[in-house]
Amino acid sequence: MSTSSDVDVPVDVDAPEKETLFVFDTTLRDGEQSPGATLNIEEKLEIARQLSRLGVDICEAGFPIASPGDFEAVRRIAEEVGPLTEGRKTGQPMVIAGLARANQEDIDRAYDAVKVAPRHRIHTFLATSDIHLKHKLKIDREECVDQAIKAISYARSKCDDVEFSPEDAGRSDPEFLTVVLGEAIKAGATTLNIPDTVGYTTPEEFGWLINYLIENTPGADKVIWSTHCHNDLGLATANTLAGVHNGARQVEVTLNGIGERAGNTSLEEVVMAVQTRPQNFSVETNIDTTQITRTSRMVSAYTGMPIQPNKAIVGANAFAHEAGIHQDGMLKHHTTYEIMRPETVGLGSSSLVLGKHSGRHAFRTRLEDLGYGNLSKKELNQAFDRFKRIADKKKVVTDADIEAIITDEFYQPKEIWKLNHVNVMCGDNVSATATVSLTDPNGAELVDAAIGTGPVDAVYKAINRIVETPNTLTEFVVKAVTEGIDAIGEVTIRIQPENGEEYATHPQTGVHVARTFSGHGASTDIIVASARAYMSALNKMLSAREEESATIQQKVAEPS
Ligand code: KIV
Ligand code: ZN
Repeated sequence: MSTSSDVDVPVDVDAPEKETLFVFDTTLRDGEQSPGATLNIEEKLEIARQLSRLGVDICEAGFPIASPGDFEAVRRIAEEVGPLTEGRKTGQPMVIAGLARANQEDIDRAYDAVKVAPRHRIHTFLATSDIHLKHKLKIDREECVDQAIKAISYARSKCDDVEFSPEDAGRSDPEFLTVVLGEAIKAGATTLNIPDTVGYTTPEEFGWLINYLIENTPGADKVIWSTHCHNDLGLATANTLAGVHNGARQVEVTLNGIGERAGNTSLEEVVMAVQTRPQNFSVETNIDTTQITRTSRMVSAYTGMPIQPNKAIVGANAFAHEAGIHQDGMLKHHTTYEIMRPETVGLGSSSLVLGKHSGRHAFRTRLEDLGYGNLSKKELNQAFDRFKRIADKKKVVTDADIEAIITDEFYQPKEIWKLNHVNVMCGDNVSATATVSLTDPNGAELVDAAIGTGPVDAVYKAINRIVETPNTLTEFVVKAVTEGIDAIGEVTIRIQPENGEEYATHPQTGVHVARTFSGHGASTDIIVASARAYMSALNKMLSAREEESATIQQKVAEPS
């Protein structure tokens, strides 16, 4: 067994040339299906631009038939991020894909949304397991094959790049799969994606399945084989890599592994496994790994899905060395306990400590180290002001504090309502009372006060009295960004509109689901952080409403 790492890997001049492993990112589709991960159009566009910078080959931008807002988001990504974007190093524009169930209406909608992108793909899917055929689709195997052929041929009549997924392939009869997939190739599919939809298989089984399908499906050499693994048993990355070992040349992944239930295979794990253990893989990806940390944080901030501290590659502790014996080893030589350098994934390497005497130059240098080198002058000034205010309260401003500032300042929805001030009075012998001042969408300042069961409840009630948008708070999480009594507190919340219009069709169940909106805020005062988080969630919900009604009005105005 080989034991080297990406640190000091010896170059083998006789090594055979590597094949490309295409990275298909579905953060904006399967990832967005995670409960509460709703993103608005601007956030989706920004994530798509960052995915392009990261070097993703194919970006599944959404499920266009889900709602007018979903359609519009995919269309704008195709239009604005489809052409070669700034900072993309691969030399080729990203392919923009839209998901469609295996029927004409879905396929038309997906095609209409992606067609403006110079490179576009229709991804159509149909379940093939007996469980799904019997209980969900209520069709037999023959009807399944017919429907797949019709859908793929129709998609191919519109678009040269068509991907087909036999949903729940992990629990489908492998022999039946070779029949459906053979017909799919004849009908014109160019990529065949094998989903382990419910995360049921083990690496041996999944690797075997990919090998069996490639060996036994007629015409298998004409298409690219792909993996799409869910993480219900924590095996998604292992299954995906087993698929790659057995001939898959596309992997479907999401940042931070977000997605339905326990999520999808995480992009960063697969990419870094392939890069860190090159002797074990005959493939390489087009990913610029130095963009991983930044992309991961952006996705976490916009989806409101925190990253567990021990998450591989992107967790806060992934490169932290706590135990004395490890620290001692690291000081002697970093390879003792480190298989990847933090810089490889875009984590700052500087050990410079920032505090209230640090100037703009030192602050900018640290931002560049952390992957935020492309802030505009205005954004830099805004971040520096915030840094100074925090440095007045905290002795040492760490990288984690700076990340929290950036996330709080810039990864926020459009500010429809603005929080000016918040004051609270609370204690064990008074009713918690809050006064808040907000600026409304027309620029007028409004002030109100409320009593609550605690200070956060009082603040939220006072805000509700002004904004008057009924909603239910479904989650409230507060965490300290760093250690110490002066730490910045980061609050993440989720709200669900009451009687709202924010619904979308779920691609796999067809069910109309209510959307949840997340918000986040950071401050050394957790009441202020809570108020900022609430305003962030409210603004997100209101901007989704604006987007939906603008899209509907635009549709009504269009001649048919
Ligand atoms: O998990 C799954 O089966 C999917 C398909 C739509 C590809 O997400
Ligand atoms: Zn999936």
